[in-house]
Amino acid sequence: MGESRVLSRAEALELGPGWRHACHALLYAPCPGRLFGRVPLRHAVLMQMRFDGQLGFPGGFVDPRDSSLEAGLSRELREELGSGAAPLSLAEGDHLGARFAETPQRLVAHFYAKRLSLEQLRALEEGATKAADHGLEVLGLVRVPLYTLRDGVGGLPTFLSNSFVASARQQLLQALGALGLVPEAELRRADAVSRKGL
Ligand code: GTP
Ligand code: MN
Ligand code: MN
Ligand code: MN
Ligand code: MN
Ligand code: MN
Repeated sequence: MGESRVLSRAEALELGPGWRHACHALLYAPCPGRLFGRVPLRHAVLMQMRFDGQLGFPGGFVDPRDSSLEAGLSRELREELGSGAAPLSLAEGDHLGARFAETPQRLVAHFYAKRLSLEQLRALEEGATKAADHGLEVLGLVRVPLYTLRDGVGGLPTFLSNSFVASARQQLLQALGALGLVPEAELRRADAVSRKGL
């Protein structure tokens, strides 16, 4: 999982001029509920349907006006999730890694994760339709199904067979493993099933 090399925040900043930086974040909360009263939901993990029809994480390009990577991320989260994102304050310590790509442009994609309470996450979801970019760059938030249904396909394997922007699919798999949101064996199986074609 995660074929591309993952850089630390410091390594990524040493790439020098000529590279654009973008920051995206996985927001998650413990979720005690059960689907059909039977299937543990585990956690609520947020992604979004983008304007281009692909799934990705909230966030975006860091601009010259942003004083830091995290300031850029914070601005993008407010644009895409609404004013409810203002108190989230993602910090350097929330950085999970950076991936770089030469095409279509030299871009470093920084990835962050932050754990919220379920109440905080639900408030974000409720406010998101009032965000400046709602209905424009962002068509809606989705929760990622972290379980696999009894047929072995429904849930996470089917979700992973959607189209993801850039390295968002690798970022999702990396984070679900690293944060312990899905057991590694189940994650590898879901990845394999989704690649084989359902
Ligand atoms: P603009 O208003 O058009 O500038 O959009 P934005 O600033 O919100 O940028 P966007 O979120 O589209 O991200 C910038 C670039 O990063 C895009 O060109 C994508 O290729 C890539 N990207 C977008 N979302 C993700 C994501 O979730 N993960 C990764 N790894 N890359 C992403
Ligand atoms: Mn944006
Ligand atoms: Mn964006
Ligand atoms: Mn932007
Ligand atoms: Mn924009
Ligand atoms: Mn745009």
